Amino acid sequence: MALVTKSIKGTQDTLPSESYKIQFVEQSVLEIAKNYGYKEIRVPVFEHTELFQRGVGDTTDVVQKEMYTFEDKGGRSITLRPEGTAGVVRSYIEHGLFNEAQPQKVCYLISCYRYEKPQAGRLREFHQFGCECFGTASPAADAELISLVNDIFAFLDVKNLKIQINSIGCPECRKNYHKALQEYFESKKDELCGTCLGRLERNPMRILDCKSPICSEIAKDAPKVTDYLCDECDEHFKKVQQYLDAMNIPYEVNPSIVRGLDYYTKTVFEFVSTEIGAQGTVCGGGRYDGLVEEIGGNHTPALGFAMGMERLLLLMQAQGIEFPPEAKCDLYIATMGDDALGKAMNLAASMREFGYYAEFDLMNRGIKAQMKYANKLGAAFTLVLGDNELSEGKAKLKEMKTGEETEILLDDKFTVNFDAVYFDKLMEGLEEQEVLGAFGKKEND
Ligand code: HAM
Repeated sequence: MALVTKSIKGTQDTLPSESYKIQFVEQSVLEIAKNYGYKEIRVPVFEHTELFQRGVGDTTDVVQKEMYTFEDKGGRSITLRPEGTAGVVRSYIEHGLFNEAQPQKVCYLISCYRYEKPQAGRLREFHQFGCECFGTASPAADAELISLVNDIFAFLDVKNLKIQINSIGCPECRKNYHKALQEYFESKKDELCGTCLGRLERNPMRILDCKSPICSEIAKDAPKVTDYLCDECDEHFKKVQQYLDAMNIPYEVNPSIVRGLDYYTKTVFEFVSTEIGAQGTVCGGGRYDGLVEEIGGNHTPALGFAMGMERLLLLMQAQGIEFPPEAKCDLYIATMGDDALGKAMNLAASMREFGYYAEFDLMNRGIKAQMKYANKLGAAFTLVLGDNELSEGKAKLKEMKTGEETEILLDDKFTVNFDAVYFDKLMEGLEEQEVLGAFGKKEND
């Protein structure tokens, strides 16, 4: 296939026949986050490279190996965002959101870019839904955030996800932990990959999430961070667990979760599935109490998460979860001749004003072909307009499912009349029980 008609490796299109699924998921996550007080924030797709070097961390795989970085025509080093948190933190500082009521809760639906080896659930352009909460150090916020993610999966009917949590402590307790890690990895130095050798001095914790099979094998027996937590971090972690218990949210403590980005402190968590292959982490997040300061703001405790939308859809498909059906055409108006087309445009406009989905012929097709198209659209009703109908000012509205026809006037009240027929048919289609349900009545009322 010619280069220009082939998408770039690691990217994918969402086709019109599939987009209602992602739209449903996007609307659902925004709605649930809204109930927790999260408002949408929109930030640019590219930022100064330095933001990610400092924010995500220059010893991470993301910064060292995976960023789409280029020089723009003004000579600036620019990077396509590999994740959302750094840009949101930049925006929080730049626009003084710390002056607003705290905590500031923001959420986003974004595309992200990482030059990774593509495989199922791993793309070079992917999409995240994320939430960030600024200004609170309370462990209740950590638990609330996990509860929000849990609610999203429950609402979407996604099952069998394991919630794994850990604490990776603060810079204070991490000093001792780094020392222990350095001692451990020093003895295995000859086996580590080149990148990890460089990490040994500067940031040995990064070796724990190296993707090379040898390094990850060695990392399995490394000292565990939970054994090095200071009293404050230990207490914080216990409280998070206590609050999760209080909300009846099941979780596992997994001391090997360290996350792949440098900004995390204290609580980290992942929602993991075994049903979509190797890339089973559908959502990840945690606290990052030092990041706002690192990027140039005042000390501000904060936390957040992001879920991979492609992985979420993969999982929903794997579990056979049904999406609410796509909106189908309510009325297709078939036309013969130009006058009828003019009338159809007029009727369709008033239908659309009422919120109905209406279409008419744009292809200059014959009536038979128009009806075939109406069938493909799954139109609930059709109306055929020709010279006769126009001169009599009425036409036959046909319900496609039953073939039943109802005469309808083509006057100013057309949409109101359509509304009445539509409602009648809807009622006929419902079982008695459902009709009573629709009016909120119980059977024995
Ligand atoms: P992350 O773990 O790097 O964290 O990414 C979050 C989620 O994005 C992953 O759990 C996964 O579902 C999805 N994801 C990551 N890389 C890919 C990829 N190459 N292809 C498809 N999906 C992918 C973050 O990005 C943090 N910013 C999360 C966060 C927000 N922490 C605090 N606030």
